[in-house]
Amino acid sequence: MLEGGEGCGKSTQADLLAGALDAVLTREPGGTDIGAQVRRLLLDRRTVGLNARAEALLMAADRAQHVAEVIAPALLGGRHVVCDRFTGSSVAYQGYGRGMDVGEIRDLSAWATAGLSPDLVLLIDVPREAAVRRLNRDLDRFEREAADFHQRVRDGFLAQAEEASDIWCVIDGDASIEIVRGRVRSAVAGRLGL
Ligand code: TYD
Repeated sequence: MLEGGEGCGKSTQADLLAGALDAVLTREPGGTDIGAQVRRLLLDRRTVGLNARAEALLMAADRAQHVAEVIAPALLGGRHVVCDRFTGSSVAYQGYGRGMDVGEIRDLSAWATAGLSPDLVLLIDVPREAAVRRLNRDLDRFEREAADFHQRVRDGFLAQAEEASDIWCVIDGDASIEIVRGRVRSAVAGRLGL
């Protein structure tokens, strides 16, 4: 799994890594047709007044569909899966960002995935200023959140990486695509032998 805040370059790296591993590349929210509809609702700026619990449940619903329809069948078929965002994003955004109980968000996600969890989570970490420079101007509902929200999200990612350092690995994403790609490859080789 690749995790990180907005504009960290995670999607580019997920794409490169999946190519290198011949893995199934997928993402959340929106990794299925049903999830794409949920994603539209979640990211649309015209979605106003969405309750934080409702937001968390929609993320979990997207994940449940995604695991059932894409991730679990791919793993059962012997494929590697590279996923752009997973449970770590719910903990960081809905937990730390929105201020909801982190344990409850984790439990909700564990229920949605029926307990499936990643072998390795790569956190592509960039300082907020670098991320803001990379964002395009047409911002979605999350990108429009205030700076302190994004700071809490980043802190939330780093806290998870520290708590579960056996599974998480922090990659410094403040460098060129090629350099970060090299860092990602050596992390995957070192941790998973792939
Ligand atoms: P996306 O376009 O995938 O963001 P990026 O291109 O930066 O990866 O948008 C997904 C947004 O949804 C992103 O702002 C993070 C948010 N999100 C959550 O809040 N909780 C979650 O569980 C997930 C998977 C995503």
